[in-house]
Amino acid sequence: MNKVRKAVIPAAGLGTRFLPATKAIPKEMLPLVDIPTIQVIVQEALDSGIEEILIISNSKKTALETHFGRDLAFEEHLRQTGKPELAEQLKAIGTMAHITFIYQENPKGLGDAVLYAEKFASGEPFAVLLGDDVVVNREGKPALLQLIEAFDKVGGSVLGVQTVPQADVCKYGIVTPSSHGEVLPRLTEIVDMVEKPKVAEAPSRLAVLGRYVFTNEIFKYLKVTPIGKGGEIQLTDGIRLLNKKQKVYAYDFVGERYDVGDKFGFVKATIDFALDRADLKDKVEDYMKVLSERLK
Ligand code: G1P
Repeated sequence: MNKVRKAVIPAAGLGTRFLPATKAIPKEMLPLVDIPTIQVIVQEALDSGIEEILIISNSKKTALETHFGRDLAFEEHLRQTGKPELAEQLKAIGTMAHITFIYQENPKGLGDAVLYAEKFASGEPFAVLLGDDVVVNREGKPALLQLIEAFDKVGGSVLGVQTVPQADVCKYGIVTPSSHGEVLPRLTEIVDMVEKPKVAEAPSRLAVLGRYVFTNEIFKYLKVTPIGKGGEIQLTDGIRLLNKKQKVYAYDFVGERYDVGDKFGFVKATIDFALDRADLKDKVEDYMKVLSERLK
């Protein structure tokens, strides 16, 4: 069985939920403190053993390419002005990963975006990480690595899931887990899934949260996936077709997940990322004490 070496990050969306900030800046460049969310996602992929990354972008989002490219003149300027550590940081980002870009000019949905990765995957299994879902496992393995290890054991596509509140099922792809229970710790076969069901119609509260490992066969099914919910080609519908021919699994990954595509989720992530930082933790905690006094 092939190793999972490649990852795809769909990032062609227009970021309408974050306008006006995203009029001129790709939403993936909005930072958690000073690190753009796309860099957090790329780091998770690298920490999970991924060697090659494809970012599915659009031609207006050149900032993503600039961010992951080298800027030798800027690095030199930083060195000459006594900031060698910043120069090293920029160099590290410019060399952190083998990243290629492809443009999805006419966004037709997440399923359509993933189809752009067929040539890149070149017959191998691959991971998909969605940029709106930032996941941090402070105690252990990154979420994607947990899925890859499950994939290595069972050889079938694995969807990263977590239990969400009943009221939130309408925001996600929701799986129907098999009644046979877990095949391995935290890993269950799925029998079906549905994209953004009404609360009353959801088969479970297990939501797919932006992490996937696919066998290469997914492309065959995405190509024949009809237009679905919201007039888009839904990845969920492609997975349903795949599941008719191959086992698909849900892995209940460990880690704190932030919906950074949502304003409040973004604020929460910003606070937690600041608290994780040695240079900011004490100041942020002191400020939180001031706030909690003020709110009494
Ligand atoms: C997408 C997927 C959905 C998944 C979600 C995770 O929806 O279509 O199945 O649960 O990401 O964040 P979106 O949030 O892009 O509408």
